[in-house]
Amino acid sequence: MAGSGAFVELLEEDVYKYYFDGEWRKSASGKSVSIINPTTRKPQYKVQACTQEEVNKIMESSKIAQKAWAKTPLWKRAELLHRAAVLLKEHKNPIAECLVKEIAKPAKDAVTEVVRSGDLVSYCAEEGVRILGEGKFLVSDSFPGNDRNKLCLTSKIPLGIVLAIPPFNYPVNLAVSKIAPALIAGNSVVLKPPTQGAVAALHMVHCFHLAGFPKGLISCVTGKGSEIGDFLTMHPGVNCISFTGGDTGIAISKKAGMVPLQMELGGKDACIILEDADIDLAAANVVKGGFSYSGQRCTAVKVVLVMESVADALVEKVKAKVAKMTVGPPEENCDITPVVTESSANYIEGLVMDAKQKGATFCQEYKREGNLIWPLLLDHVRPDMRLAWEEPFGPVLPVIRITTVEEGVHHCNASNFGLQGCIFTRDINKAMMISDAMETGTVQINSAPARGPDHFPFQGLRDSGIGSQGITNSISMMTKVKSTVINLPTPSYTMG
Ligand code: G3H
Repeated sequence: MAGSGAFVELLEEDVYKYYFDGEWRKSASGKSVSIINPTTRKPQYKVQACTQEEVNKIMESSKIAQKAWAKTPLWKRAELLHRAAVLLKEHKNPIAECLVKEIAKPAKDAVTEVVRSGDLVSYCAEEGVRILGEGKFLVSDSFPGNDRNKLCLTSKIPLGIVLAIPPFNYPVNLAVSKIAPALIAGNSVVLKPPTQGAVAALHMVHCFHLAGFPKGLISCVTGKGSEIGDFLTMHPGVNCISFTGGDTGIAISKKAGMVPLQMELGGKDACIILEDADIDLAAANVVKGGFSYSGQRCTAVKVVLVMESVADALVEKVKAKVAKMTVGPPEENCDITPVVTESSANYIEGLVMDAKQKGATFCQEYKREGNLIWPLLLDHVRPDMRLAWEEPFGPVLPVIRITTVEEGVHHCNASNFGLQGCIFTRDINKAMMISDAMETGTVQINSAPARGPDHFPFQGLRDSGIGSQGITNSISMMTKVKSTVINLPTPSYTMG
């Protein structure tokens, strides 16, 4: 159970502690932040409201720990990561329990998130050993005007302190997708989990603690964004920020100093369905892509752009599948569970009401109880409706009927977002041409958008983000190239 057994030291009275210098501690503020269970809408957990002074101390110890860690052999870093991966999987149930209570993730999906995270950590350890063990060797005579008297050796060095800020929808998986690459590359990590999801993240951090990482190398600070948010992202001790979330990321990118940024800020993923598509396959993916975790995924299908000639058939098939979806609490593994906060539910409702007023066709009746919103497919959505452009981050999916492929591509490219998109067609040549025309970080052919498998590159254009993620890209992003040049007194040619 959460906060008991192996996790008992995380909890004192009814408040979860924060993690600093290898120990679980109470904040000197004496204050806490409540986490509201999206299903019951009552307080579920409390975490420490840390202070700026505590953030300063974390940065100091993190810097010291990083210097020693950078001198730790790569194979030893990998060994500890493998140990953490095993512990994560071993403790998947209590961590998943937190995800169910804090973010209303269906119980089975919550377990999957933790297991996926363990696999990510192991893969990262292996990939790190491979790619960080290699460098480059260059010789000067390949550049005009040079003899072969300079030999350049390059290697990858850590950046220092990586500030990791994951979002509420994957507080474990999108935390380890930042922590593991940072650590294998020789960095230290300061984690600021989202408030909803903080307790799951603290349990995950405890697995790293139990694995035996040196003290100070990983810290986890909880608290109010208004008190420590900007203070963390603008802290002079931070050498890299990896952020996943909403448009707060845009504000962070404007305030952060001269540090590398890795950002993923959401999407409005378009699903283009052509006349020759396998409509059963497309319908299954529209439902999976649009409604899994109640649409609260940055890679969810957020607008269906279907050719008019097959639109009726598609809508009928999607409607039939939606009718079979279960709606209710995450503990019962329902397909649709309450959205994360009341304000999120209100925002979704605002988009639905706008579409209603402007004449969209409701394929189901709109129904809401508290944070629980029944799945809703809206047909005949037009570009003047907010739903055509905004991210509901909920179980509401707009269908726009198109008469040309160009119209679909134009809609996709006119969005502020450019994360992923997908195309359904049996013609691979057409699929490739449309993929090239779509201005998004990834295009999926004949499947719904998705980040995974976790070693695939993952990136967004425009407001969807900065840089590229995925295990290999994250490791590279969290390092810098260092060169050492050997200058010979006279040119030397091998076998010359
Ligand atoms: O919400 C953003 C996540 O990166 C999406 O990940 O495609 O595995 O659901 P996913």
